[in-house]
Amino acid sequence: EKAGFRHFMQKEIYEQPRAVTDTLRGKYSLEESLIRLPELDEISGALKDASRIHIVACGTSWHAGLVGKFLLEKFAGVPVEVDIASEYRYRDTILDENVIFLAITQSGETADTLAAMRMAKKKGCSTLAICNVLGSSVSREADGVIYTHAGPEIGVASTKAFTTQITCLYMLGIYLGQIRNTMNEKSRSEYIHSLLGVPEQMEYVLNKDSEIENIAKDFKDYKDFLFLGRHLNYPVALEGALKLKEISYIHAEGYPAGEMKHGPIALIDENMPVFTLATKSRVYDKIVSNIEEVKARDGIVIATVTENDTHLADKCDAVISIPGTSEEVSVFLNTVVTQFFAYHCARLLGNDVDQPRNLAKSVTVE
Ligand code: M6R
Repeated sequence: EKAGFRHFMQKEIYEQPRAVTDTLRGKYSLEESLIRLPELDEISGALKDASRIHIVACGTSWHAGLVGKFLLEKFAGVPVEVDIASEYRYRDTILDENVIFLAITQSGETADTLAAMRMAKKKGCSTLAICNVLGSSVSREADGVIYTHAGPEIGVASTKAFTTQITCLYMLGIYLGQIRNTMNEKSRSEYIHSLLGVPEQMEYVLNKDSEIENIAKDFKDYKDFLFLGRHLNYPVALEGALKLKEISYIHAEGYPAGEMKHGPIALIDENMPVFTLATKSRVYDKIVSNIEEVKARDGIVIATVTENDTHLADKCDAVISIPGTSEEVSVFLNTVVTQFFAYHCARLLGNDVDQPRNLAKSVTVE
């Protein structure tokens, strides 16, 4: 059932172009430049009038939520808060019927996410879920569900669930932009086209597997890593660090690169590689300065860069180049790189990649 792959995680990394394609299927019209989400018909009134959106999740799904904030605020102009379910549910969270509660959960069974959703519902919010499992608790109880068509995810370390969650958030953003009139047809068309290009560009990055494996060979014995990203790729840095911790048992921290000066820079030395997501974006120059700051302190930099970026390639100790894309799409590509990196480190270290110690696939206890 691993279809020739060594591990489920590896198979699931490779399944991502298919998973994204399945998640998009039937949900868009190129003629009209529209996203179609009939599953949200019942709450479309509430979505149109909502004054705020609260995204609530745990772990990797929370990271997807952080990416979602950028997408929803940009496309739909609605303020979005993103919170960790176990924090959200125990706070004096201010909620009313103008808030849309959005749970993101692969399994649909995460205890804290479910409890947070029940709390929001009680306080009058309309509830929405992005979920991978039909008939799960969250999907049964939410007022509207957008399904990720990732297929069963067996590896404890989430991969294809994450990229399909981001696919759903991207579609939800455009859908909200449509119904709230914050996005014109031209811009919808551009963003839909760019989303449809994701599977093919992911295939391209999948071809970097052995290149990334070689980098993992060189770096797997380090004990600490810092992952840096900015803007939309800041959550990807958090996710890259989480993957490395979960399966390689290597200590890693994810940071928004601009925060480096406010503390982590004290750690920079020749023993802690800094994995930087440095593909072209509106904050590219800023991230180049972050890399220079690390190098000036004899730090080690591994970076993802946009193809033909020789400027950065010369500065870094190792680079993985990925195709030039919009920043929104770069999220998917940078994610694949960090998944492979964690996968190969864990495998080369001889760890049980699919069932890392102390972790469960679905956390149904608090
Ligand atoms: O099923 P969920 O998406 O609600 O699960 C949330 C987290 O438990 C999950 O993402 C966890 O962090 C994974 N092990 C990440 O790889």
